Amino acid sequence: SDLPLILGIETSCDETGVGLVRGCELLGESVASSVDQHVRFGGVVPEVASRAHLEAMTPTVRRALDAAGVKLSDVDAIAVTAGPGLAGALLVGVSAAKAYAMALDKPLYGVNHLVGHVAVDQLEHGPLPKPAIALLVSGGHTSLLLVNDLATDVVSLGDTVDDAAGEAYDKVARLLDLPYPGGPPIDREAQKGDPKSVRFPRGKWGDGTYDFSFSGLKTAVARHVEDADRRGEPLVVADIAAAFQDSVVDVLTRKAVDACVEHGVGTLVISGGVAANSALRARAEQRCREAGVELRVPRPKLCTDNGAMIAALGAEVVAAGLPPSSLDLATDTSLPV
Ligand code: KG4
Ligand code: ZN
Repeated sequence: SDLPLILGIETSCDETGVGLVRGCELLGESVASSVDQHVRFGGVVPEVASRAHLEAMTPTVRRALDAAGVKLSDVDAIAVTAGPGLAGALLVGVSAAKAYAMALDKPLYGVNHLVGHVAVDQLEHGPLPKPAIALLVSGGHTSLLLVNDLATDVVSLGDTVDDAAGEAYDKVARLLDLPYPGGPPIDREAQKGDPKSVRFPRGKWGDGTYDFSFSGLKTAVARHVEDADRRGEPLVVADIAAAFQDSVVDVLTRKAVDACVEHGVGTLVISGGVAANSALRARAEQRCREAGVELRVPRPKLCTDNGAMIAALGAEVVAAGLPPSSLDLATDTSLPV
């Protein structure tokens, strides 16, 4: 293929991700995670993450090149997450990307992590119809985006005003004595429970915005657990997990599909770690079917943080003819889309 070979580097949180992409084709990738080093703290420790990125960078680039069957000298351009993310973690990725760009004498492109989560879908389902709506749900973000063009025109419609969706899962898991990260165990427990056993609040439901709020829900779960404790009643973890998840999934899917309808958009992409959630997928499928919207959810490995998503967005940026970043590209912990 004569499309440029893009090397993508991602280090915004606790995953060191490297991917190699041509157009919409994923040639190879590798991800090293420091999640094991954060487990005992119940959340990502920035300093620990930065150090792990530094140690993992070179071997992860090597593994991705091997997986793709290409050489470093074959790379035509380097894309890297410039933000949003953890300051020290971003700095490791951007510094590495600059070093590769300089050594190879190839252009460097700083790209947005959130838009990367959307662009990655192209590696699985082909070119994204324009416009599309994207719901990004992970441990760090909960965003609803109107994607007119991946490289040049993405509009933020709404965001969480407090906790991210995945963060809510992690905090509620801790209340229920389930392990970190809390999404998978809550998902499993919820499948055995009754979502109607408790009616938890629906944060910012029907408030006329596309914003989200999960901290009130978390507090309601905490109060429910305390009340049961005080009364000496046994805690039915499966029921609480199911009722909590029902509230999260209900609001996320309703607002996402409402945005599609309001903007006359026929495609919804759901990405980020929480996109692996079985109830979210099922409810989104049902609501999209009812609204006549095509639902695209990349496979779980592409939904969590990885380098392929950054390479996929880099390919779009190069194809759009945007100018490269300079070698003094700065990181931005709250980079807007
Ligand atoms: O995208 P990701 O791997 O990392 C970032 O936060 O950027 O997302 C991790 C988040 C965690 O909060 C985890 O609890 C959540 O995704 N998660 C899930 C599921 N699998 C992972 N949440 C709900 N259901 C799941 N099956
Ligand atoms: Zn992410």
